[in-house]
Amino acid sequence: MRKKIVAGNWKMNKTISEGIEIINEFKKLIETRPAKDVQIVIAPSFIHLTEFASLIKGIAFLGAQNCGDEENGAYTGEVSAPMLKSAGVDYVIIGHSERRQTYHESDSVINKKIKVVLKHKLIPIFCCGERLYEREKGIYIEIVKQQIENGLFDLSPGDFTKIVVAYEPVWAIGTGKTATPEQAQEMHRYIRNLIESKYGKSIAEMSAILYGGSCKASNAKELFNKPDVDGGLIGGASLDASEFLEIIHSF
Ligand code: PGA
Repeated sequence: MRKKIVAGNWKMNKTISEGIEIINEFKKLIETRPAKDVQIVIAPSFIHLTEFASLIKGIAFLGAQNCGDEENGAYTGEVSAPMLKSAGVDYVIIGHSERRQTYHESDSVINKKIKVVLKHKLIPIFCCGERLYEREKGIYIEIVKQQIENGLFDLSPGDFTKIVVAYEPVWAIGTGKTATPEQAQEMHRYIRNLIESKYGKSIAEMSAILYGGSCKASNAKELFNKPDVDGGLIGGASLDASEFLEIIHSF
């Protein structure tokens, strides 16, 4: 059976003490409603990581939102994969649309990051998704195909089995405009078929494909009900402990 995953992407939000408050509230809530068969990932900012590593042990996996594309050296402002590993990180979000657009990360930089993350035994959550005008022009499938082929398809089959894919239509991120369950399913099915054409049926069937973009407690159930949607990458709604727990219980 495929992994079900709900990952919270906190983005650039919350001070250390505010973050700890949310985690403590989440811990209290989840003790009364434990989640079965769902991997929970919390990806706060870098400054929260070491503090959260012990706080969330046994409840959730620790995620980072980005990673340097080199292992060490003179790269002011960057944080490397070995550093993340040493902080107790398990998952790393790579290629988020905010990184692609605001920080101009190209497919080749993203590909390099994926490889350095894998080398240090971290699990990449690879993000892909089209912008609004690309959907309106009807080229959204082609855009996602290119992102996946350029970002991932030179990996060995063994490495590919470690990847988690997150489909996040850019027009749905932080806008309150969610993809319909049918739109999500169409793309998730397409992605799984694309993986199958490159790596074969069994790897495609095992690959977790998450949906992201204004996913919240009120729409998570209908999205997660779709056969090729294996969970979510949650931004805004992951900052609210009870809303996040509700999403976790939406399978
Ligand atoms: P959102 O963000 O849930 O706030 O739309 C999702 C994401 O960017 O991962």
